[in-house]
Amino acid sequence: MSKFKQKATIVGAGLIGKSWAIVFARAGWSVTLYDSDSAVLDVALAEIEQHAATMQDAGMLENTESLLAGISLQGDLSTALAEAEYVQECGPEDLEIKQELFATMDRLAQADTVLASSTSAIVTSNFTGNLAGRGRMLVAHPVNPPHLVPLVELSPAEWTDPAVVDRARSIMESLGQTPILVRQEIDGFILNRLQAALLNEAVRLVEGGYVSPGDLDKTVADGLGLRWSFMGPFETIDLNAPAGVRDYAARYSPFFERIVESQSTVPDWSGDTLDSIDSYCRSLLTLDEIPVKSRWRDHKLALLRSHKRQVSEDG
Ligand SMILES: NC(=O)c1ccc[n+]([C@@H]2O[C@H](COP(=O)([O-])OP(=O)(O)OC[C@H]3O[C@@H](n4cnc5c(N)ncnc54)[C@H](O)[C@@H]3O)[C@@H](O)[C@H]2O)c1
Repeated sequence: MSKFKQKATIVGAGLIGKSWAIVFARAGWSVTLYDSDSAVLDVALAEIEQHAATMQDAGMLENTESLLAGISLQGDLSTALAEAEYVQECGPEDLEIKQELFATMDRLAQADTVLASSTSAIVTSNFTGNLAGRGRMLVAHPVNPPHLVPLVELSPAEWTDPAVVDRARSIMESLGQTPILVRQEIDGFILNRLQAALLNEAVRLVEGGYVSPGDLDKTVADGLGLRWSFMGPFETIDLNAPAGVRDYAARYSPFFERIVESQSTVPDWSGDTLDSIDSYCRSLLTLDEIPVKSRWRDHKLALLRSHKRQVSEDG
């Protein structure tokens, strides 16, 4: 009998696919990583090993060898899908490719395999509508990189079987991820809509000359983001008025209602505003330093995740 509990197949071994492979393998699943480009598969394990080293350094992983032992590479889709309980599609963000991939996977995967897409911005009904097995398909949108940031947005179509959504949710929980349910299909799901609201306002404030890009970044990194790293905005405001959220609404909702009108213009993501944001970012690092800074970010994320786990274990 196999020492692995269950088998997951990752379709697409790019940035997100490799990270999902880690998520499943560290939970003891047998993972098959497929990509249509053999050159991508050639370097996949070395890149996963690098991520594993970062996790080990932060105390998030005990054993790199057993993680790697759970991951196998496969260049044939039909073989990759055989006996998979769950498939996480991580191909390019392109509607036609997703439509084609889901049609092919529907033909090749066994009938009870859950087929989930990592898509950032394409709703399930756009690439599953005419497929016989559409009831087993949904979006499971991760945050980059999913092996360090646990949130997963489950966004089913109206025809996705509720039992499949339940299975996806319990699989994600068993992996240590944090699934949330998008109750109705909506452009951008939840996380990117929140991110869009914040980024549009950030660009608007820089465009209007109210703040420098650097001070805007500090406002989030050393202000809002510190609280938000362990509690959401509703839980936050519940503590910001003596009698909780109702009290907060009574005190501050006139302010939020007042400023919303000045937040409804479309900000200019180009010209002088972009020049100023770009020159701030380039003063921090050159373009060829982005991979190094990304590894630095992953290390910080791993330390933060370890810290959060430690704090929650301490109660
Ligand atoms: N990068 C992010 O921050 C992020 C975050 C959340 C979700 N996503 C989503 O995850 C998916 C993958 O994004 P990524 O950043 O890993 O992209 P990527 O370009 O790094 O990887 C895509 C991979 O798909 C492979 N591929 C191309 N055609 C294929 C096919 N027909 N079958 C199988 N594999 C194929 C490519 O060779 C490549 O390795 C996208 O839908 C994206 O929107 C990305």
